[in-house]
Amino acid sequence: MQRLDKFLSQAGVASRRELGAMIRAGRVSVNGEVMRKPETKVDEKTAQISVDGVLVGAARPRYILMYKPLGYVCSTDDPRDPVVLDLLGEEGRGLFPVGRLDKMTEGALLLTDDGQLAHNLTSPKKGVEKVYIAVCDGTPADMAIEQFKTGLTLRDGTLCRPAKLEILEPGKVRVTVHEGKYHQVRRMLAAVGAPVVTLLRERFGPLTLKGMEPGQFRNLTNEELANLWDIF
Ligand code: URA
Repeated sequence: MQRLDKFLSQAGVASRRELGAMIRAGRVSVNGEVMRKPETKVDEKTAQISVDGVLVGAARPRYILMYKPLGYVCSTDDPRDPVVLDLLGEEGRGLFPVGRLDKMTEGALLLTDDGQLAHNLTSPKKGVEKVYIAVCDGTPADMAIEQFKTGLTLRDGTLCRPAKLEILEPGKVRVTVHEGKYHQVRRMLAAVGAPVVTLLRERFGPLTLKGMEPGQFRNLTNEELANLWDIF
């Protein structure tokens, strides 16, 4: 058993003094009940402790944003190639990637052990926005913008949901999609005569790579997490 304010300060939430104020203000719950006394004893191994509605500590699911580098596969294990979890070492235990980026696609990738959130984020019904920057061999014709908007048909007849194509400069585009079919962006751009040379996911829902380098990863902030749940 441990004091609530001590547990939260050790978890890095805020200083003991700030926590005193936060707890008295009713921002902290233990097992779903608002707890206004900083000295309350909690069993840190089993209690579900949340600050502003977000779980903290051992019971808290984990959420990591990675700038996936090229050459890594988005699965938990692969016989041939390195997998994104290798980059996380011990920290990656129990986590899985939410959706997939191809081995030769880099960019924003969320890893978590929160199955419910992962399910929501990948469900085609929810249509979470994913934004890619592609360097292409050639530039799509202007009419491709309209085709993307109304729903492009891929070369094998697959119909895509409405998407957005922006021509940034000759041979460079931004594509925004709300689904995640196999090799979707590569196949969409191939269908309009501009095969992909390099592909980067710059945004996954509200999560961006600002300030990150390939191979880096970090925990989501409480604000990012709240923004993710806000999508639903
Ligand atoms: N579309 C692709 O073609 N590849 C990715 O990795 C992601 C989206």
